[in-house]
Amino acid sequence: MFRFVVLLSVAAVISGQSTPVNQCTFYNAPLPINTYIEGCDSLPCELPQLQDAVIHMTYKAPENISRMRTLATAFLPGLFPIQYPLLANGETCNFLTNTNCPVQKDEIIQYSLKMFIQPSFPVGIQTTLEFRIQDGERLSNVVCIQVPIRVVSPANKDGADDAASIDLA
Ligand SMILES: *[C@@H]1O[C@H](CO)[C@@H](O)[C@H](O)[C@H]1NC(C)=O
Repeated sequence: MFRFVVLLSVAAVISGQSTPVNQCTFYNAPLPINTYIEGCDSLPCELPQLQDAVIHMTYKAPENISRMRTLATAFLPGLFPIQYPLLANGETCNFLTNTNCPVQKDEIIQYSLKMFIQPSFPVGIQTTLEFRIQDGERLSNVVCIQVPIRVVSPANKDGADDAASIDLA
């Protein structure tokens, strides 16, 4: 399965698949070299509830970095920014697909983030998310993407969502 995901992400870069994400406006950091959100080639991204959104990024390490953390923030109209819990998926170094931490300055990194779309994001809601990768020591932001999204009904295309359905039963 892991190998499959790696092959898919490499294929995405080779075939030039790309999602036209925006530069962050709340956080200050450059865009990655390439971003591809599975199933999304135009904004807003429609992300099915109760499954993982998968975000592939290719970016260049600005420094030698030994630890990184991925953070997601949701911007809902009229509310303070909300930190969206990525839990173990926020351990950036565990999801690099072409290298390992520590990474070296100027290394080109391929990274695949999974974010579970929780039921607390109701179907139909529109919001904007900013995802940033933070240098775990300097606490500076390495890259950041801004993505308007709409949460859509859970897809049940291939039985991959069985675990989520059981949780709800
Ligand atoms: C980064 O790491 C490499 C290899 O460990 C080392 O040779 C280099 O001096 C380091 N560069 C910086 C800017 O710390």
